[in-house]
Amino acid sequence: MALFMDTRLIIRKVTDLRCLTPRRYRVKEKWAATHAKHPPTRLALHHFDATYSVQLGKLWPSVRVAMLSERKYGALLNNFCHDAVLVDLQAKGCRDFITNREEDAMPSLEQNSETQAQDESSDVSLKKSDIDGRQINLSPNIKCLVFPRGDVTRFKPARPDAYGLLSYYLMDAASVLPCLALDVQEGHNVLDLCAAPGGKTLSLLQTQSIRFLCVNDTSVSRTMRLRKVLHSYVPKQFLTDEKLRITSFDGTKWGDIERSTFDRVLVDVPCTTDRHSLTEDDNNIFNKIRVGERRRLPQLQLELLLAGIEAACPGGEILYSTCTLSQNQNQGVVEQAICLARENHGIQLEAVSLRPLTQMFRNTFHFAPGLHLGEMVIPHLAANFGPIYMCKLKRLT
Ligand SMILES: C[S@@+](CC[C@H](N)C(=O)[O-])C[C@H]1O[C@@H](n2cnc3c(N)ncnc32)[C@H](O)[C@@H]1O
Repeated sequence: MALFMDTRLIIRKVTDLRCLTPRRYRVKEKWAATHAKHPPTRLALHHFDATYSVQLGKLWPSVRVAMLSERKYGALLNNFCHDAVLVDLQAKGCRDFITNREEDAMPSLEQNSETQAQDESSDVSLKKSDIDGRQINLSPNIKCLVFPRGDVTRFKPARPDAYGLLSYYLMDAASVLPCLALDVQEGHNVLDLCAAPGGKTLSLLQTQSIRFLCVNDTSVSRTMRLRKVLHSYVPKQFLTDEKLRITSFDGTKWGDIERSTFDRVLVDVPCTTDRHSLTEDDNNIFNKIRVGERRRLPQLQLELLLAGIEAACPGGEILYSTCTLSQNQNQGVVEQAICLARENHGIQLEAVSLRPLTQMFRNTFHFAPGLHLGEMVIPHLAANFGPIYMCKLKRLT
């Protein structure tokens, strides 16, 4: 009886409150219309739980919690800016992870090397120039600052110098690795096939070694963002037609335009962008209406990589990268591209080991153990970068 009275009282109070709001201002929430029953972020989590728990095994719970937590950024230093921000950032406790490596100072972040032996058991029939310990050439001009492991301090937005150029670009620090791995040398012609919004283009430009840079992205709106980024970071004299070309072509058709041309090609493909898919419902590829687009991703990635391979000159190098943990979108695509390039285009490729790179940066990033093709930064709560997969191919013929 008492419970019945309480309930009646509550209903009355709610009704009274409703009476205080004039009818014309009352809004009845339409749950069915405004709240998706299965938000894309939840669909993504279910999908990843099913696939990555198998793929990553015991590592998945720690990667999962890291991906659901706040990501960490790095500040790519802009050499074209006149303000000396390096000292300021260092005073705040950051370090340039590229030049100030902690190779011997600390134990490796790698938790598990038991799968290392699998490295040798590649089921792809290709020659692997796997000379572990061979040093990789790193551009001395790319500088990226990060806060120490476990330190989750955020960077302040960059400020413009007297010429309006911003001092640093905030990005996932692991995104710099594909640009370092590409190993751009003085006088190279470089193609960035899927370039927008331009973080990696900007990293490549920091090398100041490129003779001619071709920047492409099929999305016109994203290419506009890329242009804005370039104008905010690079002086006009470096953005002339003799040095840079910006296009919005479908990269899969690049072979119709230019073949066997570039010394270096970056193929940073669209993917399931795992971190974004887990945290943002907007523009999420796990949205039910985008199922077809998501399923077609590996085919699109394969076509883009093949186009990049064709665009490279014999002796040239191609860097394939994604920001997903998915084997189908990573090693699976590279394996198929190697076979199809040989069978359909008569192009022989060699996978170049990136192990020296992972050795150099093993105290900044957490790398997945035992990948038979390419390397992958996996998110870790103490070093919450990635995921970034990268695989380097050298065109032999
Ligand atoms: C992972 S994002 C690239 C990120 C960029 N490299 C960066 O570092 O800022 C993939 C890009 O591929 C572009 N893309 C999708 N399909 C493409 C195609 N067929 N040809 C060229 N670019 C494409 C998308 O518009 C998107 O900007």
